[in-house]
Amino acid sequence: MRVASVGISKHCFLFSLAFCGLLLLLIPALQPPTRQGDLPQPRPHAGPGRAGMGSANTQGNPGGLTVTAQDGESALDIELKVRSLGRGRGSGDRGINRDHTHRLGPGRGAESHRRPDQVHIPGGKGGRPVGSRSRDPLELKDIFIAVKTTKKYHKSRLELLFQTWVSQAKEQTFIFTDGEDKDLQRTGANIINTNCSAAHTRQALCCKMSVEYDKFIESQKKWFCHVDDDNYVILPSLLQLLSSYHHSQDVYLGRPSLDHPIEAAERVKSDGSVSVKFWFATGGAGFCISRGLALKMSPWASLGNFISTAEKIRLPDDCTIGYIIEALLEVMLTHTHLFHSHLENLQKLPIDTVLEQVTLSYGGFENRRNVVSIGGPFSLTEDPTRFKTVHCLLYPDTDLCSRMKPH
Ligand SMILES: *[C@@H]1O[C@H](CO)[C@@H](O)[C@H](O)[C@H]1NC(C)=O
Repeated sequence: MRVASVGISKHCFLFSLAFCGLLLLLIPALQPPTRQGDLPQPRPHAGPGRAGMGSANTQGNPGGLTVTAQDGESALDIELKVRSLGRGRGSGDRGINRDHTHRLGPGRGAESHRRPDQVHIPGGKGGRPVGSRSRDPLELKDIFIAVKTTKKYHKSRLELLFQTWVSQAKEQTFIFTDGEDKDLQRTGANIINTNCSAAHTRQALCCKMSVEYDKFIESQKKWFCHVDDDNYVILPSLLQLLSSYHHSQDVYLGRPSLDHPIEAAERVKSDGSVSVKFWFATGGAGFCISRGLALKMSPWASLGNFISTAEKIRLPDDCTIGYIIEALLEVMLTHTHLFHSHLENLQKLPIDTVLEQVTLSYGGFENRRNVVSIGGPFSLTEDPTRFKTVHCLLYPDTDLCSRMKPH
């Protein structure tokens, strides 16, 4: 009897064990199929992230703006400060105070050693890298590259760009200028006369940015990138950087102009008695915005609204972009140090990382020696900006480069 009952419980035990094992095997099969790699990715709801900056940042609060009025700084103070610090000289110099140039964010050195695909850490809502196995890989033709210039620089600056990087991205590069130029039209490049004033005032610069925005929206391209006429765009790096995001996400990528957010009187959502803090990407180093985010900017940026937004807060064009994105839309700038303006010490860029950067620049008349220290087929006299040298390292087989190969 006892023997029999032991035999039965043993069988029961073995049977339950087998049943449990079968159940375990069935669990994955019973779950609904998961779709992998579908784009766009859901937007993370997590708070703002920073690409290796570690800086304190504005906390978005629901339905409102972060209000901090501690400094008692007026918008005008900020504007003056910003003008002297981080502004690009893309279309006309405005006597930048060179003493204030290198106010770069912390982590800059470390950043510049990393490869482009390691730099971006998700920023705010969106800005999440989506990995490289995207179903429709990003192509150069998906990027709208706006180059801001002014008539005075058509010859001295644009010619060099046409000889170098623009020659590799003719279809998607658009030159935004302020004067008719028959010679320029003969190059076959996409030239857009904005009819904006050639003065280097806030109004004129915002006028150009406003036209850039409208033309981008019209273009149906996936990414908007703005650069100045003294920037070299390293197209493979740009493509690699943008490929890690999706254009339907909210992505605003660029180099922060200051090492802290700027503060301005809030005059769009309130009467200016409160202030708002936000980061912005310096225009002189170039920045990129995804189409998804650009469309959301429309109420404050499209069809002349950009100019009135800038007028309300009395800030320059690139600050206004940051204001619309960070303060009004509560999407955070993804800080990257792969973009470079003439305000930096470009000689300090490690030589072995130069070709991994997204944009480069050069010092111009006031600081001729501020260029990337990269050697190659051209001497400093032949290629004072080093753009031709960089170009020939990237595209050795192009006309410009094969002719100049050392004998
Ligand atoms: C600038 O003016 C010209 C001539 O009136 C016009 O054809 C062109 O469309 C204008 N440009 C813009 C961007 O509005």
